[in-house]
Amino acid sequence: MHISRRDFITTTVVGPLALGAGAAAAANAAAAGAGSSATAGKRPIIVSSGNGYDYLDAAYEFLKDGGDTLDAAIRVVKGPEDDPNEDSVGLGGLPNEEGVVELDACCMHGPSRRAGSVGGVRNIRNVSLVAKAVIEHTGHVMLVGEGAERFAAAMGFARENLLTQRSRKTWLLWKEFHSSDDWWGPGLAHPDWRAPENIAASDAREQGIRRLAERAADLGIEPEYRMAAVRKVLFPPTGTIHCSALDEQGAMSGITTTSGLAYKLPGRLGDSPVIGAGCFTDQDVGSAGATGSGEENIKVAGAHTIVENMRHGMSPLDAGMDALKRIVRNYGGDKQRLRFMDMTYYILRKDGAYAGVSLWEGYEPGKPHRIAVHDGSQRSEPTIPLFAGASQEFPPFPKVPAERLKEIS
Ligand code: GLY
Repeated sequence: MHISRRDFITTTVVGPLALGAGAAAAANAAAAGAGSSATAGKRPIIVSSGNGYDYLDAAYEFLKDGGDTLDAAIRVVKGPEDDPNEDSVGLGGLPNEEGVVELDACCMHGPSRRAGSVGGVRNIRNVSLVAKAVIEHTGHVMLVGEGAERFAAAMGFARENLLTQRSRKTWLLWKEFHSSDDWWGPGLAHPDWRAPENIAASDAREQGIRRLAERAADLGIEPEYRMAAVRKVLFPPTGTIHCSALDEQGAMSGITTTSGLAYKLPGRLGDSPVIGAGCFTDQDVGSAGATGSGEENIKVAGAHTIVENMRHGMSPLDAGMDALKRIVRNYGGDKQRLRFMDMTYYILRKDGAYAGVSLWEGYEPGKPHRIAVHDGSQRSEPTIPLFAGASQEFPPFPKVPAERLKEIS
């Protein structure tokens, strides 16, 4: 029997969502000081999505020694772009539905009030640097597709195959399991979209996951990554890394880079290359960036909305929560739809106050979204969620029996 990804999801989304506790969760987290600082913070300071944590220290030293804020932010995001095991950006990013990696990035340089962006770029891993090159070497702001790739090559960026063995095999797993109408047909915002039935954990689900895990093994996906690959097939991630940097004098810049939504239609752009959605920096006010459901963020111009909110006096936390509430409003508060999306904002005000806010606590129970911060002390803090619970709440994965793992390893 063939079970498509869509069929499968309709029988795997389970469990009541813990709704309505979000305001309390936000209040508690804010009171505890995690994920935000309402009053003026320290300068210099760098904030990034959680996947930038390992690269903050070197970038902070560079910034403290007088380095430019955009260069400091790029030092953070270039790390994951170069890491073949990081599947949300650059080399090793999960590809589009045809198995081709397409990358997006945008940046804003506060002191010079300039912006650069590239979208749908193939074969060039460091699109963060290409976005900066658009600022420095063109009179344009945005380049896409083949033109952006040719510009990058002309600027001396090496062309390479960005698909790794791991990302190729994960794509193959998706390819073998996907529904022919993934990303086609009514999307979440379409009136005809129907929520999957809320069916509790079942033998069919367990068997389905086990079969997928076994197929992952047959494809040669290494045991420690196998269940992650299964999850990425069932719930294609949007990955992404954002970083904003503020120096001692108050100069600031921001950058966001991504491989975008996994298995997307070729040519699909999310929010990351869209200045004002994936990233926005105003030298007079602050900087904000986003990871998560790009389609939703574009519709609320999230990063720009947040910076404007701060310009009008809101704290970073309130400014971010307001942008999240605009997404909720776009769906009339329908949590049957909202649970299939997620959004995290990383917010830095010119005085060093910051916040990390998210629509849901995380993609999986117990694994909160995180904001990484370095202001002399390097730390990773859970973001403050609007809603309690995980988006795309997924039941715990059953373990593949040890004997079967031995057989197929
Ligand atoms: N936020 C990344 C994307 O949706 O492409």
